Amino acid sequence: DKGNYRHFMAKEIAEQPEVVGHTLSHHLDMSAGRARVPEGLDFAALDRLAISACGTAFYAGLVARYWFEKYARMPVDIDIASEFRYREPPLNGGGLGILISQSGETADTLATLRHCRQQGMQIASVVNVPTSTIARESDVALPTLAGPEIGVASTKAFTCQLATLASLVIAAGRARGVLGADDEAELVGALIELPRLMAETLKLEPQIEELARTFAKVQDALYLGRGTSYPIAMEGALKLKEISYIHAEGYAAGELKHGPIALVDEKVPVVVLAPFDNLFEKTVSNMQEVAARGGKIVLVTDAAGAEHAGETLKTLVLPSAHPFVTPILYALPMQLLAYHTAVFMGTDVDQPRNLAKSVTVE
Ligand code: F6R
Repeated sequence: DKGNYRHFMAKEIAEQPEVVGHTLSHHLDMSAGRARVPEGLDFAALDRLAISACGTAFYAGLVARYWFEKYARMPVDIDIASEFRYREPPLNGGGLGILISQSGETADTLATLRHCRQQGMQIASVVNVPTSTIARESDVALPTLAGPEIGVASTKAFTCQLATLASLVIAAGRARGVLGADDEAELVGALIELPRLMAETLKLEPQIEELARTFAKVQDALYLGRGTSYPIAMEGALKLKEISYIHAEGYAAGELKHGPIALVDEKVPVVVLAPFDNLFEKTVSNMQEVAARGGKIVLVTDAAGAEHAGETLKTLVLPSAHPFVTPILYALPMQLLAYHTAVFMGTDVDQPRNLAKSVTVE
C-alpha cells in the first residue's frame, strides 16, 4: 500500500527516520549508551574481516570498511560478490565473512556466502528478509528492520544496513579495546540523534525537487566524495542511473584529475558531497577545479561547509552531524534527487526497465 504517496519509492524514502530508529533500537541498548554484541561474534579473537555484497548493499559495505578500520582497527577485505569468490583470496580458514543483502536471495551474494563457508569462515549477514536463504545459511543473522521494500531502487534498506553495520562497528571497537566507554557513548549518542536529523534532512525535498528540473535535462552527471562520502557518491550515481536512465558516475574526489575531469563542461552537473569534516578542505579544492572548467556544482554540505564554499549552482544545507553518521544522512538527498529527476522524466520509478528487485541469477 502506497498510502498517500505516488510511488513506493517516495514512501520508502519518507519512512527512513522511523525504520532506522527501529533498527537502531534493536542493535543498541539506548538507555545504557551501548551497542549490543550479537551472540556468537567474538571480535576480540578476530584478526580480519571480509565483506561482500552487490549494488547498493556493496556500497553499505564500503562505508562499513572505513568504520571498521577507524573505530575497531580491524583490517577489512571487501569486494563485490560476483568478483570476491573468483579472486581466490587466501582466506586461511579463519575470520568472519559479512554478507549484506536486502532480499537475502541475491545469487552472487549467496554463492559468496557458501564459498566463505567452505573456506572455514564464520558467516554473519545483514539482511532485511529474515526468512531468506542468506539469513538461514548464516551463523549470525543481523536484521535490518526496514520492513518490506517494494521499489526496485533500494532506499530504506540501505540506510538500515548502514545503521546495523554502525552498531556492529561500535560493538567490535569495544571488544577490541579500541573504543573506551566515553567513545562508545559518543558514537551511540550520534546514532540516537540520527532519526531526528534524517527527518530534518527530508525537509529539503522541495529544494531538491526544484534542482531535479535541471537534472531531468542533462545527459551525464558526476558525483564526488571523499572518505565515507565516496561510497555515498557512488550510491547517488547508481540511484540516478537506475531510475532516470541518465548516465552518472561516482568518483573519489581525489581521482577527478586522473581522468574524469575531462568530462566536465557546463552541461555536466557535478554533485559534491562534503560535510564540514577533516576532509572538507581537500574536497572543496577538487570542487574548485570543476568550477574553473565551467562545471555546474551542486554542493551537499552543512551550515559550516556552506559558509566556506564559494559559488555553486545549488548548495543543499543539511543539519550538522557527527562525522560517524554523515554517510547515512547524506544518502537521503541522493535518493530524493534521483527520485524527483525520474518523476520529471516520466520513467517507471518503482519498476525501472531491465531491473528486478531480487537478482537470483549469477
Ligand atoms: C540498487 C539496488 C541493487 C541491489 C542489489 C543487491 O538500488 O537495489 O543494486 O542493492 O541488487 O540486492 P540485495 O540487497 O537484495 O542483495
